[in-house]
Amino acid sequence: MCVSPFPSLAVPAFLFSMVIFPQLALGGITRHYHFDIKYENVTRLCHTKSMVTVNGQFPGPRIVAREGDRLLIKVVNHVQNNISIHWHGIRQLQTGWADGPAYVTQCPIQTGQSFVYNYTIVGQRGTLFWHAHVSWLRSTVYGPLIILPKHGVPYPFTKPYKEVPIIFGEWWNADPEAVISQALQTGGGPNVSDAYTINGLPGPLYNCSAKDTFKLKVKPGKTYLLRLINAALNDELFFSIANHTLTVVEADAVYVKPFEINTILITPGQTTNVLIKTKSHYPNATFFVTARPYVTGLGTFDNSTVAGILEYEVPTNSLHSAASVKKLPLFKPILPALNDTSFATNFTSKLRSLASAKFPANVPQKVDRHFFFTVGLGTNPCQKNQTCQGPNGTMFAASVNNISFTLPTTALLQAHFFGQSQGVYSPYFPSSPFIPFNYTGTPLNNTMVGDGTELVVLPFNTSVELVMQDTSILGAESHPLHLHGFNFFVVGQGFGNFDPNKDPAKFNLVDPVERNTVGVPSGGWVAIRFRADNPGVWFMHCHLEIHTSWGLKMAWLVLDGKLPNQKLLPPPKDLPKC
Ligand code: C2O
Repeated sequence: MCVSPFPSLAVPAFLFSMVIFPQLALGGITRHYHFDIKYENVTRLCHTKSMVTVNGQFPGPRIVAREGDRLLIKVVNHVQNNISIHWHGIRQLQTGWADGPAYVTQCPIQTGQSFVYNYTIVGQRGTLFWHAHVSWLRSTVYGPLIILPKHGVPYPFTKPYKEVPIIFGEWWNADPEAVISQALQTGGGPNVSDAYTINGLPGPLYNCSAKDTFKLKVKPGKTYLLRLINAALNDELFFSIANHTLTVVEADAVYVKPFEINTILITPGQTTNVLIKTKSHYPNATFFVTARPYVTGLGTFDNSTVAGILEYEVPTNSLHSAASVKKLPLFKPILPALNDTSFATNFTSKLRSLASAKFPANVPQKVDRHFFFTVGLGTNPCQKNQTCQGPNGTMFAASVNNISFTLPTTALLQAHFFGQSQGVYSPYFPSSPFIPFNYTGTPLNNTMVGDGTELVVLPFNTSVELVMQDTSILGAESHPLHLHGFNFFVVGQGFGNFDPNKDPAKFNLVDPVERNTVGVPSGGWVAIRFRADNPGVWFMHCHLEIHTSWGLKMAWLVLDGKLPNQKLLPPPKDLPKC
C-alpha cells in the first residue's frame, strides 16, 4: 500500500531516475493511493456508530501532491452502499471520467468492486478536498487534498513555519443515510446534525466531548498556514481564533490579494488558506478556535459551536510548567450573529485575485453566451394517501430555473460519449426562467417545481456569463453553488433582482476572485464568468447537501474541440457499470 504523502522521497536515486524520469519530463511524478471503503466504529458525544470510512480513518486520509503530479487512487468498495469519490476543485482536464459525481460522470462503485481514479493536476496549487459524491455519504467520507507548488516555486507570501489542515465537518449520532432517506420520504426538513467538528473532533462545548478536542500547538513568533476546508453538509460557517489575526491568502486553491481579518466565512465546498502570526512571547493564556453557522433560511439548523484550542508550547527554558498550562486563562473569539449578512457581504467583497504577471486573472472579457438561473426552494405535491411534512403539507423541493434535477439511472457522461442520450437527458436546459417574475419580492402562491434531467450544451471554448438569482419563493436563502470542472470569476453580486441594464456596468473584470464555489447572496444575485475549455459533463449544484438532494442541481455538457488536446479521452477500462 502506498498511502504515505511522499512515497517517492523514499525511492533510491537510481530508481527515481529510471522509473519516474519519463513523467518528470511532463513536470510531475505519479503518486499512488489506496482507498479501502470500509466500516469503522467511531465514537463521538458518547455515541458509537459503525460508519463508512476510507481506510478506517475519520476524517479520511490526507492526499498531498504537487502541481503537475499524476494521481492514481484505487478505491475498493467493501461496504453495502454504492460509492464514488469526487476530487472537489480539481479541473480534470480531458479526464472527466475521474471527476466522481455518481450518475453524472460515472456509475457508482458497487459492493466488492473497485475503480482507479486517474488524473493529472494541471495549473493548480493550493488547498482542496475530496469527498464521497453519492447520497449523504460525504458526511463521513472526506479528507484534505493538498497541492503544493512545483519544486522550488515559492508561495507568494511569507513561507510558513508549519502548515495545518483544518477540515470542518458535521456529526450525526444517527446514521446520516437514515436522516436523508427519512427527509425524502416525509418531504420535511432533515434532522439537524448533533455537532460540528474540526478534524473530526466536536470539542469541549458539547456534552461528553472534552477529550475529542482539536489542539493546535504552536511556538511563539512563527507564521502558520492554516488550510481551512468546509466539508460540513448543510452549513456555512464563521471561523475565528481568539486574539489572533487571520491573513487570507488563498480561496479555493487560487491565491488572493492578502488581507487581514478576525473572522472568515466559509461555505460548504469552499476552502480558504490563512496565515496566523503567533505572539512573539509566550502569552500565559490559551485561545479558543471556534466555528459556528451563518444561517439565512427559514428551516431549523444546528446552532451549536465547535471549539478547538490554540495552545502555545511551553518554552523549555521557562518557568512555566506543563501543569500550569491547564490553569491558564482561556480567551474566546466573538463571532458574528448567526444571520449577519452584512458581515458576509463585506467579507466576500474583500476577496480579489492577485492578477499579477505570475498569477494573472484571465477573466473572459467578451461573452459568447449569457445565462440567467434562478436558484431556490420550492415544493412537490404530496403523494396520495400520505401526509407530508413540507410547507403546507407538501414536500420540499429545490430547483434551478424551476427545474428540480432528477439523476438518471445511468451516467450522463457515458450516455453522451456513446451517443445514447435519448431517454437519459434532454439538451435543452433553459437559459433563463420560462416565466420571469419578481424573484425576491412577495412570494408567489404557486411554489411547485417541475422535474427533469436537462443539460446546457456548450461548444468548446464558449465564454459564459452566468447570473444566479436567489428566489424568495420559500424564503430568501444563501446558496453556495459549486461548479465541477472549472474555476470561475465572481464578477459581480448584489441584492434584490439582477438588473441586466444597470448591474453589468459595475462588474469587476480586472481582479475578481477566481473560485469553484460561490455563495449566491440571500435575497440577491451573483454573476460569474468562465471559459468552457474542458470537454465533458460538469455538474453544478448547491453544496448544501439537503438542497442537492431536493434537486438544486443541473449539468453542463461541453463538447470536444478540434485539436487532440481539446477532446475528452476515452473512458478507463475499469469504469464502473450501473
Ligand atoms: Cu464538493 Cu459536486 O461537490
